[in-house]
Amino acid sequence: MTTAYYKNKTVLITGGAQGISLGMAQAFAREGANVVITDADKEAGQEAVERLLKEKLKVVFMACDISQEHEVAALMQQVGENYTQLDVLINNAGIADPFIGDLDEMLLSEFDSILAVNLRGPVLCCKYSLPLLRKAEHGAILNISSTRAFMSEPNTFAYSASKGGLEALTHSLAISLAQDRIRVNAIAPGWIETGEWQKKSRKYKPQHTKDDKEQHPVGKVGTPEDVAEAALFLCSDKAGFITGQSITIDGGMSVKMIYK
Ligand SMILES: NC(=O)c1ccc[n+]([C@@H]2O[C@H](COP(=O)([O-])OP(=O)(O)OC[C@H]3O[C@@H](n4cnc5c(N)ncnc54)[C@H](O)[C@@H]3O)[C@@H](O)[C@H]2O)c1
Repeated sequence: MTTAYYKNKTVLITGGAQGISLGMAQAFAREGANVVITDADKEAGQEAVERLLKEKLKVVFMACDISQEHEVAALMQQVGENYTQLDVLINNAGIADPFIGDLDEMLLSEFDSILAVNLRGPVLCCKYSLPLLRKAEHGAILNISSTRAFMSEPNTFAYSASKGGLEALTHSLAISLAQDRIRVNAIAPGWIETGEWQKKSRKYKPQHTKDDKEQHPVGKVGTPEDVAEAALFLCSDKAGFITGQSITIDGGMSVKMIYK
């Protein structure tokens, strides 16, 4: 997607230092946006900014653990001091490993910590960014959920519940914030390969088997660029009649009927 829409717009991406979000940060910055990457991992944040500055993109890093209310409040204050408004908030940060173990051995603290990042974090980010989003002519919030909001493997219940909550938050906030002309949508990714988008110490060369690829009807595993293209569209004026919706980006995996 190439459009003049994002030129000089401000886009904040949580968990933006690596993985899917770094692909989105690059895409929005290439469209001319001022991109604020925020992440709890400062090392990854610095590496991400170095990577994007090589292209002379407009990108800064601000550290924040989104599970901590005082850090989110401080982050939004810092954003407000540096930019007049916020045009796009992307709630991407998450504990991305879905597996938690057996329910009967689960510690409540493990469940709570996943919910604190994956669901309460986006709520805090929405709450504290609201004054800045209201200043934008057409604010947009994009929540990155997961196909695991709708379907499961065993022992992924905390992650799935957090992402199911994020899907519900999406339509609920779309209605609550409509009067502020803020649209709220979600992307539910399936398997997205992020090996090339990790910080140096976590980077790996992706290797996918024939089965890995063929279990996706489109014949490949997804990439951050696949998610970024949809994000650019959903947060732009081209999607001005779309709010409260979730788009699944999984190469068709979740609509494939399986008989054994
Ligand atoms: N990769 C996939 O296949 C996939 C599939 C479906 C959904 N998702 C979702 O997409 C999002 C990104 O996933 P990814 O694969 O790129 O993960 P990733 O682990 O590569 O990146 C996640 C980023 O979030 C940051 N983060 C974690 N906790 C944080 C906190 N408390 N505060 C601030 N930052 C924090 C991490 O430091 C990291 O940089 C996640 O919400 C994940 O659940 C990913």
